[in-house]
Amino acid sequence: MNIPTFDLNGKVALVTGGSKGIGYGMAEALGHYGATLVISSRGAADGEIAVSQLKEKNIAATYIPCDVTKKDQVEQLVHQIVEQFGSLDILVNNAGMNIRKPLVEVEENDWDTVFNVNLKGLFLVGQACAKQMIKQNYGKIINISSILGTIGMQFQTSYAASKGGINQLTKVWAEELAPHNITVNSIGPGYIITPMTKEWLSDPERSEKIISSTMIKRIGETSDLVGPVVFLASDTSKYVTGQVLHVDGGYTAR
Ligand SMILES: NC(=O)c1ccc[n+]([C@@H]2O[C@H](COP(=O)([O-])OP(=O)(O)OC[C@H]3O[C@@H](n4cnc5c(N)ncnc54)[C@H](OP(=O)(O)O)[C@@H]3O)[C@@H](O)[C@H]2O)c1
Repeated sequence: MNIPTFDLNGKVALVTGGSKGIGYGMAEALGHYGATLVISSRGAADGEIAVSQLKEKNIAATYIPCDVTKKDQVEQLVHQIVEQFGSLDILVNNAGMNIRKPLVEVEENDWDTVFNVNLKGLFLVGQACAKQMIKQNYGKIINISSILGTIGMQFQTSYAASKGGINQLTKVWAEELAPHNITVNSIGPGYIITPMTKEWLSDPERSEKIISSTMIKRIGETSDLVGPVVFLASDTSKYVTGQVLHVDGGYTAR
């Protein structure tokens, strides 16, 4: 048997929203396993801080600013990566945000804002990267969804709908791109402590409730996503496509 490895040397990886939280953790994981790393986000100052933090861990990364909701910026990002590094092999389609409100308080603008980043942005980046991956006849696309793409929860009208959309896009892209040697999967994290969720999870009553509903009795950390992202980015997952991998301590399995 020819045993595939987790080694990512020689692979070029892009992590959108790689300056913070889950994206930063996943970028560190891919860099640790040898990928040539590009991170992007809107805020260049945070991006440069992330690059120097990675450097302290002996991981080289390049920061390129890009708002995923802007098609011209997304196309420029992909163009620049291919110009500079010669290919684009792994996409972690991670940039996202949330506006939590009861249904009757959700403004039209809240809905549009969440959908623009989480779904339209993910589509624009995925499409631009897929065009390059088709030319290469190789690629790994990892869309970052959420347990809320699968389960329902109060105050998550636009977020849950956008994440459900990501899971559907994942399946459609998986079938279209399989003939081009490209796998497409989603990771659906449960509650992970990041700048996005820190305040929300600081309510002890809320976090206790989450912990009591989680088989593995704790809130998740970005390091919990290392194994899943490296698996889906490497050739160890070459027969896995169109899947949603929940990384949630068993939350959705109950
Ligand atoms: N934390 C959780 O519990 C959890 C659970 C399930 C799923 N997720 C998903 O995981 C992903 C990352 O979440 P997180 O908790 O790490 O969030 P975070 O800490 O708020 O980080 C979000 C990242 O996305 C970037 N970003 C936001 N809007 C962007 C845009 N329009 N264009 C480009 N970059 C943008 C941010 O940088 P700038 O603001 O500078 O652009 C930042 O780098 C999201 O898709 C989220 O829905 C999170």
